[in-house]
Amino acid sequence: MDLARSFQDATKYYREKLPEARCAAACVAPYKRYDEHLPRIALPRPESLPKASFWETVAHRRSVRRYIPAELSGMSLCLLLWASQGITRPGNVPLRASPSAGALFPIETYVVVNRVAGVAPGLYHWQLPDERLVLLRADCDLGEQVAIACLDQDMCRSAACSFLWTAVFERTLRKYGDRGLRYVYLDAGHVGHALQLAAAALGLGSCCIGALFDDEVNRLLGIDGVHESIVYAASVGSAREPSGGL
Ligand SMILES: Cc1cc2nc3c(=O)[nH]c(=O)nc-3n(C[C@H](O)[C@H](O)[C@H](O)COP(=O)(O)O)c2cc1C
Repeated sequence: MDLARSFQDATKYYREKLPEARCAAACVAPYKRYDEHLPRIALPRPESLPKASFWETVAHRRSVRRYIPAELSGMSLCLLLWASQGITRPGNVPLRASPSAGALFPIETYVVVNRVAGVAPGLYHWQLPDERLVLLRADCDLGEQVAIACLDQDMCRSAACSFLWTAVFERTLRKYGDRGLRYVYLDAGHVGHALQLAAAALGLGSCCIGALFDDEVNRLLGIDGVHESIVYAASVGSAREPSGGL
């Protein structure tokens, strides 16, 4: 409880000493960009949005940890990425499918592909605003490596793909100071939930993952774990058995 208490205290707003509003400096890049020479994939986009009922989707969302070895369509992956982190209102301050404190969007999305039609197995970064998958590592064994790094959770082996969400802390802390740390993790939660609802709406199963060895996942992603670190993950695939709901 000591850490919980000191975290709450260190990140509280106190009426008598509200921090000065800081500007969300332009010097922190809003999007992470990898080398322009790396291979890029544009996923097929649906002509219209799926017609799933919101209420049915909420009722049927369940964490699914066992998947059949079916391939995910490229369009489904496109929709999952878009529904969790896609730009839904372009403009000077582009806004996204999930809310973010100060519209600063500290969360980056990486995808480990095991079985997605038209996308070779490997590790990809989802590049915004262009909505391209940038191939960071072609490797058929990554599902296994992610499973091991996620406390040997088998779902990452059998999933069609796994989402790995990192935070670039400075994007949010630059404006909000230590309080921003709360916002970063709240932002990540929104993204995870949006992914789960999108998966349910597409008739897919998914499960959010918080149990992971941070350093191992960071190493796998090639990030330093300080300026950018893994904060959350999820597996997605076709459920082995129907999930609950109402
Ligand atoms: C922050 C967070 C972390 C989680 N981490 C894991 C995990 O590492 N492994 C797992 O199997 N489920 C994980 N879950 C899923 C929960 O176990 C699941 O949401 C809970 O049992 C309720 O079931 P439901 O999602 O089907 O409603 C996590 C959920 C959240 C919100």
